[in-house]
Amino acid sequence: MELGCSGFLLSCHVLLCLSAIWALAMADVPSGQRPGCPAKCGDIDIPFPFGIGEQCAFHSGFALSCTSINGTMKPLKWNIEVTKISVPEGKAWMNTRTISWQCYDPVTDTMNYRNGWANFTNSPFWISEVNNKIFVIGCNTLAYMMGSSYVIGCSSTCKNVTLMNGTCSGAGCCQVDVPTGVRFYSGNFDQNYNTTEIWRYSRCSYMVLMEEAAFNFRTSYVKSTVFYDIYNGTVPLVLNWRARPWTCDVAQKNMSSYACVSNHSGCVNVTSTTDEPGYRCKCSDGYEGNPYITDGCQDINECLKDATLCGSGICENRAGHYTCSCGRGYYMTNGVCVPTSQTPVLVVTFTVGLGVGCGIILLSLVFGVFFVKHKLQILRAKKLREKFFEQNRGLLLEQLVDKDIAERMIFSLEELEKATNKFDEARKLGSGGHGTVYKGILSTQHVVAIKKSKNTIQREI
Ligand SMILES: *[C@@H]1O[C@H](CO)[C@@H](O)[C@H](O)[C@H]1NC(C)=O
Ligand SMILES: *[C@@H]1O[C@H](CO)[C@@H](O)[C@H](O)[C@H]1NC(C)=O
Ligand SMILES: *[C@@H]1O[C@H](CO)[C@@H](O)[C@H](O)[C@H]1NC(C)=O
Ligand SMILES: *[C@@H]1O[C@H](CO)[C@@H](O)[C@H](O)[C@H]1NC(C)=O
Ligand SMILES: *[C@@H]1O[C@H](CO)[C@@H](O)[C@H](O)[C@H]1NC(C)=O
Ligand SMILES: *[C@@H]1O[C@H](CO)[C@@H](O)[C@H](O)[C@H]1NC(C)=O
Ligand SMILES: *[C@@H]1O[C@H](CO)[C@@H](O)[C@H](O)[C@H]1NC(C)=O
Ligand SMILES: *[C@@H]1O[C@H](CO)[C@@H](O)[C@H](O)[C@H]1NC(C)=O
Ligand SMILES: *[C@@H]1O[C@H](CO)[C@@H](O)[C@H](O)[C@H]1NC(C)=O
Repeated sequence: MELGCSGFLLSCHVLLCLSAIWALAMADVPSGQRPGCPAKCGDIDIPFPFGIGEQCAFHSGFALSCTSINGTMKPLKWNIEVTKISVPEGKAWMNTRTISWQCYDPVTDTMNYRNGWANFTNSPFWISEVNNKIFVIGCNTLAYMMGSSYVIGCSSTCKNVTLMNGTCSGAGCCQVDVPTGVRFYSGNFDQNYNTTEIWRYSRCSYMVLMEEAAFNFRTSYVKSTVFYDIYNGTVPLVLNWRARPWTCDVAQKNMSSYACVSNHSGCVNVTSTTDEPGYRCKCSDGYEGNPYITDGCQDINECLKDATLCGSGICENRAGHYTCSCGRGYYMTNGVCVPTSQTPVLVVTFTVGLGVGCGIILLSLVFGVFFVKHKLQILRAKKLREKFFEQNRGLLLEQLVDKDIAERMIFSLEELEKATNKFDEARKLGSGGHGTVYKGILSTQHVVAIKKSKNTIQREI
């Protein structure tokens, strides 16, 4: 019965696991588009509110073009390549041509400059301060990023320092955090820090605002143009985006332009800068998908996603959540199903454990007692034997004859019993003052006269 139940639970688990694997293989949460709009451009998913062309986008700010570049189709925003769009995170990855540089030109004996910049003003986008960093590469370089209301930068040197691959902390490379809510910036160099003196070792310096995860300092970056060359001047940048430049309260007043149209979706304020509010949409807890399209937010089947969610219990998916329960005859405690009728498993284990422990202690105690008792018995027997030996004139015997012989003449009770046929009355030879004399035949076939002391305690001879 119990075995059958666990067998059933086991097969449930296997089934759940299999369905989970199947679900993982099949379920590709649809990114969601407007009817008749392409879901992809090349390899890149284009989820609504983004769209290829104005008619497919929520508004012009999300309109992309899908263009063939060198034979592959790529989505572009103002000729900037979009490489990834995340609706739940509200982020977009773009390859921006924004590397700033200063290089010494030995032919003209001058410093040449290029100040990279980006301007996302009046667009849904701004620079993510979480995913990006400002990097400055060079041996005698002070570069900074200029925004609309701040200047932020750092300096790097190669004098009296050891350049290290993967380390960007002042030696040939330095880095600073990006301020929040940046929509516009340009890269600039302090011209008093230049490479006119050191150009044979380090001719060019760079300043870049880019995705931190995509940057890895190499010592070769200060000695050559390899940094610029590997990116071809185009670095990945992570941007935040919002649906519209209003707060949720304002947006919800006009439902015809409200972005969060899906059931089970909600609005989140994403104030990028103090001067510009914004909102984004998200699916409610327990739902996933695209909140910007009708019925875009779908219930998450938690039970299929994680078969171990309810432990040994039965997982049941509900709209927006899930429940854990146990089969009939079981109840759930601390996420474990235990039989209701019997002692809970834990208690049983405890009892068994206690029982086994007690058993071991008891056994050792019993053995100990027996051992001690046995030892005592041996001791007492020895003592008594000595006592009776004396009483039965053994002492005299011992004194008279060789100890070896005397000892050989002391027989065990069993031997004497056997010899006298259990002190058979028929073998009685006579009775004296100290005891009865029996005729005995030893196992060695010697006939002996055995005197049984009257006052001896049997078995102690
Ligand atoms: C196109 O591809 C060729 C060869 O793969 C390459 O040399 C060229 O730079 C590419 N052009 C662009 C714009 O990516
Ligand atoms: C950024 O672009 C906006 C329009 O898109 C423009 O008004 C503004 O002047 C630009 N800022 C800079 C510093 O170029
Ligand atoms: C570099 O180190 C040398 C000797 O160790 C010293 O003379 C020189 O002043 C140092 N230069 C700087 C810029 O610290
Ligand atoms: C840094 O890595 C390059 C190869 O990428 C290697 O040639 C160079 O020796 C390394 N430099 C240091 C200081 O480890
Ligand atoms: C390079 O910097 C030095 C000071 O460090 C300055 O005197 C010189 O004018 C600068 N050269 C250029 C081309 O800016
Ligand atoms: C590098 O960028 C330039 C200018 O955008 C382009 O002409 C060239 O084809 C690119 N090279 C590669 C290898 O992508
Ligand atoms: C609501 O939004 C629609 C579409 O954007 C617009 O045409 C309409 O004027 C707005 N209504 C109000 C009251 O703001
Ligand atoms: C989803 O919204 C539609 C109206 O837009 C409504 O008819 C439907 O009942 C809703 N579905 C659920 C599951 O709430
Ligand atoms: C959004 O921000 C406004 C103004 O700051 C506030 O009144 C409102 O409660 C916020 N709404 C949400 C959903 O956070």
